[in-house]
Amino acid sequence: MSDWYKKMSFYQIWIRSFADGNGDGIGDLWGVYDKLEYIKSVGVDGIWFSPIYPSPNADFGYDISDYKDIHPEYGDLALFKKVLDKAHDLGLKVIMDLVINHTSDEHPWFQESRKGRCNPYSDYYIWRDTPNNWESLFEGNAWEYDPQRGQYYLHIFAKKQPDLNMDNPAVRKEVEEILKFWLDMGVDGFREDVINFISKKEGLPSGVPLLPAVNGMPHYKDGPHIYEYNRQFRRVCQKYDCFQIGEGPMTTLKSALKYLTGPEKCLDMMFSFDHMMADCFYTEYMHRPFSLLKYKRAISKWQYGLEGRAWNSLYLENHDHPRIISRYGSEVFRVKSGTMLAASYLFLQGTPFIYQGQEIGMTNIRLGRIEHYEDVSSKTNFHRYHLKDSMARRLHRIHLSSRDSARTPMQWDDSPHAGFTVPQAQPWFYVNRNYTEVNVKNQEKDPSSILNFYRACLKLRKSSKTLLFGGYREHFPKDRYVFTYERYRKDIRYLIICSFSESAVAFRVPREYEGRTGELMLCNYEDREKGPDKVRSIGFLRAYETRVYRFRF
Ligand code: GLC
Ligand code: CA
Repeated sequence: MSDWYKKMSFYQIWIRSFADGNGDGIGDLWGVYDKLEYIKSVGVDGIWFSPIYPSPNADFGYDISDYKDIHPEYGDLALFKKVLDKAHDLGLKVIMDLVINHTSDEHPWFQESRKGRCNPYSDYYIWRDTPNNWESLFEGNAWEYDPQRGQYYLHIFAKKQPDLNMDNPAVRKEVEEILKFWLDMGVDGFREDVINFISKKEGLPSGVPLLPAVNGMPHYKDGPHIYEYNRQFRRVCQKYDCFQIGEGPMTTLKSALKYLTGPEKCLDMMFSFDHMMADCFYTEYMHRPFSLLKYKRAISKWQYGLEGRAWNSLYLENHDHPRIISRYGSEVFRVKSGTMLAASYLFLQGTPFIYQGQEIGMTNIRLGRIEHYEDVSSKTNFHRYHLKDSMARRLHRIHLSSRDSARTPMQWDDSPHAGFTVPQAQPWFYVNRNYTEVNVKNQEKDPSSILNFYRACLKLRKSSKTLLFGGYREHFPKDRYVFTYERYRKDIRYLIICSFSESAVAFRVPREYEGRTGELMLCNYEDREKGPDKVRSIGFLRAYETRVYRFRF
């Protein structure tokens, strides 16, 4: 297996809100086809498609009703192939989302399975006469009674997402077929959804008292056959030059290393979650003030922890989290904090992922009523917790946490509906009102825009072996306002300095850099001139200022 993915960066498409090509208000593959040059221009080398398969959209594509087709709203297989070919022509790899922990309840397998106990699909899902006490992550109890079958089925996520029974060899065979289907078509790999949940502990023991919604997790995370099953799938993938990145909710460094190294190795990379909890307790719904110390601790833990052993995946946004500027930065200092956040992660060791709209600094949407939200988990959280709080407070929690903030239509220009769809159409979801200011078209023209800063970062990263492969070192880990890290290789060192403060702060330079002349490669304040710069031991950073220096030692 080659490791081409180490030099890459990816752009994530959540298709429904990306670009509408046929004027029905819903993003689609025609839209993607037209925007491939734009994606390329950002400086990435690949695309990850969140699910584009047929789906009743109870969880917007993560509830699949046919693994080997394209949702008719988004196009068809022939169009997908066209997109794939064009992407390849542009030098972009394409990876698909593999969602095998569960299907939609409208998948034919489930339709058959619920019919009775002795047909080929009876054991495709997890059925019990009496449920245990597990709670689901998305919708109350993890068990739903099915009157047709007269039993309960397990759903770790929403009711319309029944968990597959991976212990059944026939189900694993189906997964193999799905992998082959897409790999034969030419896709380059998979992002594997909640892949650490697919093997459940035998006997499904009762959950332990923990936070609400996760009491069963110790019994379904990293389960007894998790590596065995994933290795079976990896064997199929290894026949192709493809790569696999697993999403590992709540994964620890220790367990990630098992997926990524040694005899059990079954994935190339894993999405970890620790650094996404610097402003919350476990989920964004349990909000806490942002703590830079937490962010830095999480980053360094994974950087040091995987170095020389495995490869990090780097991200700040995806379709499951609110917008990062609204969380770790500041909407008031949108451009400065958006650019600084980019530098805070794009130069780490690993493969960066950029989520649609992140590269132009899109921010959270705040809708006036819970009924206006679409995301199943936001709705459940609203109706499940803090019921004694005022309406306004409960809605505020949704504003801080909803996944829908990442799912508003992409802001292409300042025309009606942000250019996401034709003026006469009604977009399927609310466009953020700031689109007249925050959009691709404006930022193309502006050399100091967030978009152009992302471009500059990705270009710099790619041009340097030190930034791609060098070691990582954090400086001043106890500093509550500034994140300073270094990448080193041979005699070259990069020093990346990021202020997370909205007022000016003093910063120190690591001792071995004092008095040296470095070259300022990037800065998000235009008045600071690029080029040779003598570094003094103490300096000041303005609001959310970031600087990237290159030194020869
Ligand atoms: C993953 C997906 C998320 C989905 C969940 C269930 O976490 O990223 O969007 O809701 O799995 O499939
Ligand atoms: Ca459309």
